Amino acid sequence: MPAVLDYEPVVLPPQRGEAGPLSEIQEEILDLKQRRQAVILAHNYQIEPIQRVADYVGDSLGLSYQAAAAKAEVIVFCGVHFMAETAKIVNPTRRVLLPDLNAGCSLADSCPADRLAAYKAAHPEVYVVAYINCSAAVKALSDVICTSGNAVKIVNRVPAGREILFVPDQNLGQWVARQTGRRMRLWPGSCYAHVQFTVQALEKARLQFPDAPIVAHPECIETVRDLADEVCSTELMVKFAREHPARRIIVVTESGMLHRLRREVPDKTFIAGPTDTCACNDCRFMKMNTIEKLRDALRNLAPDIDVPEPIRERAYLPIQRMLEWSK
Ligand code: 13P
Ligand code: SF4
Repeated sequence: MPAVLDYEPVVLPPQRGEAGPLSEIQEEILDLKQRRQAVILAHNYQIEPIQRVADYVGDSLGLSYQAAAAKAEVIVFCGVHFMAETAKIVNPTRRVLLPDLNAGCSLADSCPADRLAAYKAAHPEVYVVAYINCSAAVKALSDVICTSGNAVKIVNRVPAGREILFVPDQNLGQWVARQTGRRMRLWPGSCYAHVQFTVQALEKARLQFPDAPIVAHPECIETVRDLADEVCSTELMVKFAREHPARRIIVVTESGMLHRLRREVPDKTFIAGPTDTCACNDCRFMKMNTIEKLRDALRNLAPDIDVPEPIRERAYLPIQRMLEWSK
């Protein structure tokens, strides 16, 4: 392991001209996609070769709308398990594939459904706002779902006077509580990747790139969020990059985001947000999907996601509420 802060920053300069030709395997994926009548949805944290063959690349909110509206027979979801599960919940007649079924999420794992059920039994008065990074079983126990892109809007719609329990991300919950002024009980969960960003690593980056604003994801810890010029979802990072006059931007989230930013804002330089020991930060779950596994998923129409119908029906209600409230 490298010594603390002993690394060169990852700097992606403006993307001049067209991205190169597709590889053989990417061409095969496009061909299989057509034959299987499939649509490929990819999260912003996916590797670049996957982002380039996807029909849509976005954040959890955009992906939920895309999944709900998908007409294709097959949805190949390049993201993590809870995202593919959400696609199945909102569009159950489609076959939903996840290239690697082991692509989980440490944040989702930090709130097991049986513990939430026990908490609700002891505190029946709480109104449960669940961040979309949770299992179908947790969604089924919730009153409304939110994503980082709409959390403030959703919490503002919760009936005044109701005591909110926010699960599972304490960092996003704390940020939303500040933005909305709502008192909330916070579930003690967090994203293992985002909590690795530190103030000292970002201060080093700031010294190296004094003209570059810092944009950070709300799953980061409070001291990091306080240092950032903007705190927002991955989708809103694209808007921020487009609209901010700076030529260079420090991006404090999972490193796949830099590919999306470079494609959509090709005239700017993006610097990966560093941690104490690494110049950029990968989510090991998001990176389990590879281009070969995507090809194999389309070839074999597997692995696919199954959500038991009673859970799916109950989990759909708070998602539907979110989709309505965030219009
Ligand atoms: P976004 O919805 O902002 O893309 O975040 C998803 C996620 O998993 C962040 O770690
Ligand atoms: Fe989960 Fe964190 Fe990975 Fe997002 S980055 S999928 S919250 S582990």
